[in-house]
Amino acid sequence: MPIPEEFIRDLKMRCDIAEVISSYVNLKKAGHNLMGLCPFHNEKSPSFSVSPENGFFHCFGCGAGGDVITFIKRIENLDYVEAVKLLAQRAGMTVPDDDRSKGMSQLRSRIYEANREAARFYHKQLYTPEGREALEYLRKRQLTEKTIIHFGLGYSPKSRFELVNYLKSKGFSGTELIQANLANESKRGNPFDRFSDRVMFPIIDLRGNVIGFGGRIMSDIKPKYLNTSDTPVFNKSRNLFALQFAKNKADGQLILVEGYMDVIALHQAGFENAVATLGTALTQEQALTIKRYCDEVVICYDADEAGQKATARAISILRPTGLNIKILTVPSGKDPDEYIKSYGDQGAARFRMLLEKSGNDVEFRLQKLRSRYNTEITEQRVEFLTEAAKMIATLDNSIERDVYISKLSEELNVEKSAVKQQVSRYFKYNSREASKKEQREIQYRLSARDDRINTEKPNNLRAANAEEALIALLMKNADVAQNIFRILPPEKFITSFDRKVYETIKSRAEKGFDFTVTDISGEFSDEEMSRITKILVSHPRENDPQTAADDYIKVLEEEAEKMTEDEIARSDPETLMEQLRKMKEKKK
Ligand code: CTP
Ligand code: MN
Repeated sequence: MPIPEEFIRDLKMRCDIAEVISSYVNLKKAGHNLMGLCPFHNEKSPSFSVSPENGFFHCFGCGAGGDVITFIKRIENLDYVEAVKLLAQRAGMTVPDDDRSKGMSQLRSRIYEANREAARFYHKQLYTPEGREALEYLRKRQLTEKTIIHFGLGYSPKSRFELVNYLKSKGFSGTELIQANLANESKRGNPFDRFSDRVMFPIIDLRGNVIGFGGRIMSDIKPKYLNTSDTPVFNKSRNLFALQFAKNKADGQLILVEGYMDVIALHQAGFENAVATLGTALTQEQALTIKRYCDEVVICYDADEAGQKATARAISILRPTGLNIKILTVPSGKDPDEYIKSYGDQGAARFRMLLEKSGNDVEFRLQKLRSRYNTEITEQRVEFLTEAAKMIATLDNSIERDVYISKLSEELNVEKSAVKQQVSRYFKYNSREASKKEQREIQYRLSARDDRINTEKPNNLRAANAEEALIALLMKNADVAQNIFRILPPEKFITSFDRKVYETIKSRAEKGFDFTVTDISGEFSDEEMSRITKILVSHPRENDPQTAADDYIKVLEEEAEKMTEDEIARSDPETLMEQLRKMKEKKK
């Protein structure tokens, strides 16, 4: 362990898990625990619980769980050391120097530094003779000096070696530049600049790190944009362009647009709550991120065919988060940037009007649906009504359903009660299907056919259940644990995952450390931590822990004796005889 145990323990004492998690999730008191909506999956009723007493969180819906460090790792997309650093900063502590010189954390922080230097370099290039054309280009696109500086825009020079040479002179190695995707590798293994002769848009995360770049060509050459590929610090499907600014200006609402230039034009026009994806379609992770910073999202994609398709897709991803969704369609096939510019001084006011007029996603979908039918023809009108009823039936909110039922019946001149009946039939059907699906999922989890964490569990169900019960018991009863550690060697555990958990807490105890769940997160992955937390929350405290522990150990012994047919077939005769003898004795 690179960071001293004592430090981690101190840190955890100073970081109240409830307080830390509260800054990301709205938590309400529920008995000893706090409950809220899980930030790691979509849900409408809270199944995310935080136990300040035990120092862990657990989601009964998706199974995520762990201590405060695991939480920060997952929510901030950091590695262990970075999460510790972030928490330390919050608690006003300094992480002692460690020796992780070759580790992933080290590489990540080198990449951050290289990216920052690169962003500075690109920006300065704008004001050199070579960058003049790029600066002109940005000005021609009506970006002000202030905007250029605010977004840190820049220019990557034509020569394929300028950035590489510059960063090498600053002490970065070729490998680091390739890992950062600032450079590509030539056939001979030499790094050369990835971006050349492009206007550069730095992409910055919520903590102010430059994590990647988008680069726009100034001519018609393709590709129009070249982006950083995924690196150890950059993940296209996780980050959003300009969220670092927009999150502070959201005030309940974010505007989602398609392009970097749209974001920048909107910010310049005073709509500083605009964000964009990074050249890919919206992902679920991004939707959950958006949800963290607002209640309402306005989708403002291009008006063309592709933009409308992307809108429909984005709706289907945003809907399950429970966000209020609005659709803003920019008229006459323009994108937001072009629209604002086309009105000059009036641009911002015009866009504000569009924003106020923007309809919600249900209207958008109904309109799209309607355009496929000729409602003058009775047959088609019925078909449209049926499809519309199906769509309205997918809305969770009964008031919302009622609003659209009324609207539809008025528009098509049909009895409201008839539409209502239709909708409620589909609604009931959907609810039945949803609950069946949920049941199936629960069954599936119970049967543990597919256990990715403890892969041996499905074939050793009884043993694994006893192991889990024992682990929970040990973690909750330090006194009993001391006895058990003395008499029960790890080899007695049958599944290797549970054995590793046991070994870890045992060796911690022997070193004189605590071994609550909050003290072992450095040694397990997030998924493994979720499992350990789940083990803890799903086993109630035992009244007579010593006796219970003895029972579990007995189960382990019994299970160890049961040899599978496979093993019997592979055993040598002597062991086999011994086994059979033992089994007979048991039966007597
Ligand atoms: N994009 C990309 N690669 C391309 C084209 C587009 O990654 N070859 C991404 C960029 O993030 C871009 C977004 O898709 O910002 C939307 O594309 P487009 O509408 O063409 O870009 P704009 O931002 O409108 O760019 P511009 O106004 O400069 O043409
Ligand atoms: Mn554009």
